[in-house]
Amino acid sequence: MFKVGVLASGTGSNLAALLEASASGSLPARVAVVICNVPGAGALQKAEAAGVPAICICHRDYPSREAFEAAIQEQLERHGVELVVLAGFMRILGAAFVRSWHGRLLNVHPSLLPAFPGVASHKQALDAGVRITGCTVHLVDEGTDTGPVVAQSAVPILPTDTEATLHARIQVEEHRLLPWAVGLFARGLVRLEGRKVHLDVPFPSGRLTVPGPESR
Ligand code: GRF
Repeated sequence: MFKVGVLASGTGSNLAALLEASASGSLPARVAVVICNVPGAGALQKAEAAGVPAICICHRDYPSREAFEAAIQEQLERHGVELVVLAGFMRILGAAFVRSWHGRLLNVHPSLLPAFPGVASHKQALDAGVRITGCTVHLVDEGTDTGPVVAQSAVPILPTDTEATLHARIQVEEHRLLPWAVGLFARGLVRLEGRKVHLDVPFPSGRLTVPGPESR
């Protein structure tokens, strides 16, 4: 079974979506290890509850970013990870780490990149007055949210939206999009051609959300 490593810092709702998709069989992959840099974070608890190795590697315990990342790398290798997913991981990863996972390091971001990269994406979208935002799963490169896009899902912005309501609706889409995108990697359907990702799956043009679970 294709092995996924998840790096997280927060509540871990995207991790939970991966765990559920894996358990239900809709995702032909299993989460082999969860690494979290925040002691006591929800992601660690969710991993433990699912019986997945949950490891806290706190950046504060290491003298340098290189040492912190080496500790992460060691655990990923120890668990035979083939694809790394950043699911709300709030540390910038260095160039050497990113290069070592070239084409095998995914991030989920709460906007339609390249719009609204970095932090506070919901606020950026509301402040910009756009009518549609969404979420993006992309390969990670050395920039901040600049890597090749794998999949996106659109979410309308309602006149009554606050950052909190928008965040909640975007997360619903993230929880569909991320397992679907990880499934493409598990099935070997992703080809990186230069800066662009080619998917060997039918994705109807004009479609704004990913296909439903039945076709994952
Ligand atoms: C997600 O909204 C993701 O887009 C962003 O961090 C958040 C993580 O949420 N990168 P969770 O911990 O998976 O609930």
